[in-house]
Amino acid sequence: MILTDSKDLELIRKAGEIDGYVLEELMKMVAPGVTTWEIDERAERLIREAGALPTFKGYRNFPCTICASINEEVVHGIPNKNRVLKDGDIISLDIGSTVRRTLNGAKDAGATGGKGKNRDYEDFIGDTAVTVPVGQISAKLEKLLADTQKSLYAGIKVCRAGATLDDIGGAIEDVALEAGYGIVREYGGHGIGYNYHEDPFILNYRSGSRTKLKPGMVIAIEPMFNLGGDRVRLKQDGWTVVTQDYKPSAHFEHSLLITEGDPEILTKRPSEVIA
Ligand code: MF3
Ligand code: CO
Ligand code: CO
Repeated sequence: MILTDSKDLELIRKAGEIDGYVLEELMKMVAPGVTTWEIDERAERLIREAGALPTFKGYRNFPCTICASINEEVVHGIPNKNRVLKDGDIISLDIGSTVRRTLNGAKDAGATGGKGKNRDYEDFIGDTAVTVPVGQISAKLEKLLADTQKSLYAGIKVCRAGATLDDIGGAIEDVALEAGYGIVREYGGHGIGYNYHEDPFILNYRSGSRTKLKPGMVIAIEPMFNLGGDRVRLKQDGWTVVTQDYKPSAHFEHSLLITEGDPEILTKRPSEVIA
C-alpha cells in the first residue's frame, strides 16, 4: 500500500502504537509456569480495550490473537492451555492489531474489507514480534536473540525511499553470516496496511531484487535466525513452523512507514531503545 492521506496515517499509527504497547505488556508476563494460552487471553483483552481488533484471530482460520513460538518453533505457534513456559526456553510473541474504520454508515463490519468498491470498512494493521528469554537462558541463546534483533534494526536502517529490497535482505544477511546462523528462507517480511499481507514479499537475505521502496509504503520486516541450519518444516497442526534439526530459532518484527528519510517505526514499544 502507498499511504499518504493524513487521516489514514493517523489510523495506521494508532494500530502500530496499540500493537507495540500490547506486546510490551505481554513481554512482562513471560515467566516459568505461565501458559501461552494465558498470554493470548491477555493480548486479546488489551487489544480490544484499546479499541482495536485482534488481526490474526480468524485469519485463514488461525484460532488465536498471538503466535507463540517456543525454542525450535520458528513462527506461527498456536497458544495452548497445556503449553507451559519453562526456565531456559525462548519464546517468540507475534501480534497484530487492526484499527477498523467503518464506511458509508455501515453499522457492523460486513465481509467486504480492503480498499475495493462497495466496502463497508477499511482496516489499518500493525504487525510486530519479539523473542524473549524465559528465566535464565544460555549465553548462546542470549546472543541469538541479540543478533536477530540487531539484524532487524540493520534492515530498518537501510529502509528509505529509493532503497531496494535487496538492500534490506543484504543488511539482515550480513548479521547472520557473521555469526553463522541459518536464515529461514521460506518466510519473510511483507507489505502491510489495509490488508494483513500485501506485496512485496521481503526476503531476509540477498535476492538481487531491484524493487524500490517508495514514500508512504508500509512494510513489515521480520528476520528469523536459527542456531542450526536454515531448513524448516510445517507441523501436523498446519501452522507451527519448526526447524528441521530442532535447534532453537529467534524472530523479531516491526512495521514501518517509508519516508524520504529515516523510516517511522510504527510498532515501536514504549520502552524500546533502537540501537
Ligand atoms: N504475524 C505473522 C507475520 O508476521 C503471520 C501470522 S499468520 C496468522 O507475518 F494467521 F497467525 F495470523
Ligand atoms: Co509479519
Ligand atoms: Co507478525
